[in-house]
Amino acid sequence: MKNLLSMEHLTNEEILHILDRAQAFENGEQPQVVRSYNVANLFFEPSTRTKTSFEMAERRVGCTVIPFDAGFSSALKGETMYDTVKTLEMIGMDAVVIRAKEDEYYNELLEGIDCAVINAGDGAGQHPSQSLLDLFTIRKEFGTFKNLNITIVGDITHSRVAKSNASALTRLGANVRFLCPEEWAGDFEAAHSWEDVLEDSDVIMLLRIQHERHAVSKNFSKDGYHDEFGLTAEREKRMKTGAIIMHPAPVNRDVEIADELVECERSRIFQQVRNGVYARMAILETILKGRK
Ligand code: NCD
Repeated sequence: MKNLLSMEHLTNEEILHILDRAQAFENGEQPQVVRSYNVANLFFEPSTRTKTSFEMAERRVGCTVIPFDAGFSSALKGETMYDTVKTLEMIGMDAVVIRAKEDEYYNELLEGIDCAVINAGDGAGQHPSQSLLDLFTIRKEFGTFKNLNITIVGDITHSRVAKSNASALTRLGANVRFLCPEEWAGDFEAAHSWEDVLEDSDVIMLLRIQHERHAVSKNFSKDGYHDEFGLTAEREKRMKTGAIIMHPAPVNRDVEIADELVECERSRIFQQVRNGVYARMAILETILKGRK
């Protein structure tokens, strides 16, 4: 594996290998990375979890993390993504972790770039490291993906998390369903009422409304969305025994999920963050082991 760009590029075997290594790291195994590789994190969109989690994982697998501040970089002077990454490669980077607002920004890096590219989110496209940590969280809980009812709720069309997870989970045997307002379903077939999905879901995966990706800002009422599509305390009580709640975060409390449910017994929201470090260590190990 040279790069990690999209879940669509991974085979089921590659996915399961990364999950197994994440589990090994959680169990205390040491990463098999032969030297200290140089890595930079290029975040052109806001991030709390993903950036910090990558940096923690990079340090834990023995990388040297070279600081890069996207907000003060020459990208602001019009430099292309290709020239930015080529420059960092010439300085000595073995890998770059990139988040950008353009869908598939990585296409311009496929030729002429030798350092590894790890996609930390491309616009409304893909978010493979989030998907791998979500899969890790689900497998830890249920031991399998087969026949699980997984319901992804919210701003489906604008969410890279929804797209990465829908394709990977379906391929691994889960029954993925969607619940959202009609205008956010895009090409996906979605339910528009909790009644269709609430009581038989094993996983309810909530999404933040991606306001920054809406072409026209919707006349949006937080309470209206919460009443219709949010996970309320009353709805949580009707969930199946053993069912869990997930959310990639950041959470908007009392919009997609009731404040009091964020850390309830079913919620895995903060465990997902913890699992993310192991999943990213596994991604880095898999990619860096293949380099000279
Ligand atoms: C997500 C993202 O950036 O796509 N966050 C994350 O990486 N944990 C989800 C979001 O911003 O809503």
